[in-house]
Amino acid sequence: MPESLGIVMVGCGGIARSHAFALTKVENARLIASVDVDEAAAIRFRDRFGFETYSTDLDEVLARDDVDAVIITTSSKSHGPLILKSLEAGKHVLVQKPMTASVEESREALALAERKGLKLMVSFFELFLPPVERAREIIEAGLIGDPFLFKAIMAWHTPDVTSGWRFNPALAGGGVILDGNVHHVANALYLLGDPKIESVYAEYAALTADIEVEDTAVILIRTDKAILEISGSNRLQEPGGATTAFKDTWQVFGTKGTIQWDSAARPTFRVFTSEESAMDPLLANGWVSPKLPVMAADHREFSMHINGEESPWVPEHQHFVDACLNDTPVRSDGHFGLKTQLILDAAYRSGSEGRKLTLEQAQEAR
Ligand SMILES: NC(=O)c1ccc[n+]([C@@H]2O[C@H](COP(=O)([O-])OP(=O)(O)OC[C@H]3O[C@@H](n4cnc5c(N)ncnc54)[C@H](O)[C@@H]3O)[C@@H](O)[C@H]2O)c1
Repeated sequence: MPESLGIVMVGCGGIARSHAFALTKVENARLIASVDVDEAAAIRFRDRFGFETYSTDLDEVLARDDVDAVIITTSSKSHGPLILKSLEAGKHVLVQKPMTASVEESREALALAERKGLKLMVSFFELFLPPVERAREIIEAGLIGDPFLFKAIMAWHTPDVTSGWRFNPALAGGGVILDGNVHHVANALYLLGDPKIESVYAEYAALTADIEVEDTAVILIRTDKAILEISGSNRLQEPGGATTAFKDTWQVFGTKGTIQWDSAARPTFRVFTSEESAMDPLLANGWVSPKLPVMAADHREFSMHINGEESPWVPEHQHFVDACLNDTPVRSDGHFGLKTQLILDAAYRSGSEGRKLTLEQAQEAR
C-alpha cells in the first residue's frame, strides 16, 4: 500500500481554497499539481498551498503515474466530463457537488468508477460536520423516535447576478437547486438512513432578478420515513455574517423529540428528547446541547458561514485520502451522488410540469 496519495486539484477558484487548505493538514496527502484553465489561478494555488507544480493542461498531469486522485472544483456543468476523463486515466475522484449537471452523466460516471474499481466521492462538506454525525447517531439510537419531518433552508445573498458562471445555465446547469438545496437533500438522505423516495414536488423561479436560472426554490419530498421540506435562495437579505448574509439551518422532528442545527446560532446544535432513558436529570424537559468535538484552531478553514469549531474540511479530506489508500468505502459515493441527482432532476421536472412525480416518472421519456 502506498504511504501517500498523489493529488491533483482541478479548478483553483473560491471553494477550492477550502479543499486545498484541508489537504495541507492531511499527512498522507501529496499535493502534486494545481490545475486551472486560468494560469494565474493555478500559479496562485501552487504558491499558496505548496503544490509541487501547476498546469493549465489536465491531460498532461493525468498522464503522470504518481497522480492517484483528482479533486474537481470547477463550475458545475464541467464536473461530468472531468470525472470521466479522470476515471479513464485511472485516478480516484472527489468532485464538488452537484455530482454532475445531469442524471445521465452521473450514471455514466458511477458505472465507469465501478468498472475501474476506483473511488468516486461527491463532496458534501456538511456530512462531515460533527453535529450531522451526532444527529445521525441520535436518530439511529431512537432518541427522537421516528422522524416524520425534515425542514431546511440554505440561503445567501449574491449581489451581482449579471456576471459569473452561476447565472449562466450553459455553465451552471441550473440555479439554487443545484447550488444550495442539493446540500440539504444530501443531509436528509444521510440523517434519515437512505429513505425510499416516494415523490418529489417543487416550485422554483427567478423571482428577484432577470436571470435565466432559479434564484428561489422549495422542494417537497415524500419518503417512506418522513416528509422533507427543502428551501433555498441566493437572494436573501439579512444582516451579514463574516462575508454576506448566509442562512443554513435544518431540523428533524421525530415522534419523541426534535433536533435542530443553525450555523449562525450559538450553540449551533440543540436536541430535545422525551425519551426518558436519554434524559439528563438536570436538563430534562428542555433543549440540550450535546458536547461536540472541537476542531483545533489551526485546522479550521474559513468556509463562508460554518462555525470554525465545527470545520468539516480536514476530516472530509482525511476520509477520502484514507479510503483511496486503504480501499475502504466513502461516505457519499457515486450511488449516493446519483440519488441526489435523481431527486434534483425530479424537482426540476416537477416544477416545470406543475405536478408531483416519482423518481421513475421523472426519468420517463428522457
Ligand atoms: N460545498 C460548498 O459549500 C460549495 C461552495 C461553493 C461552490 N461549490 C461548488 O464548487 C464548484 C466551484 O465553485 P466556485 O464557487 O469555487 O467557482 P469559481 O468560479 O470560484 O472557481 C472555479 C474555477 O474553475 C476553473 N475552471 C472552470 N472550468 C474549468 C476546466 N474545465 N478546467 C480547469 N479549470 C476550470 C475556473 O477558471 C475557476 O478558477 C461548483 O461546482 C460549485 O457548485 C461548493
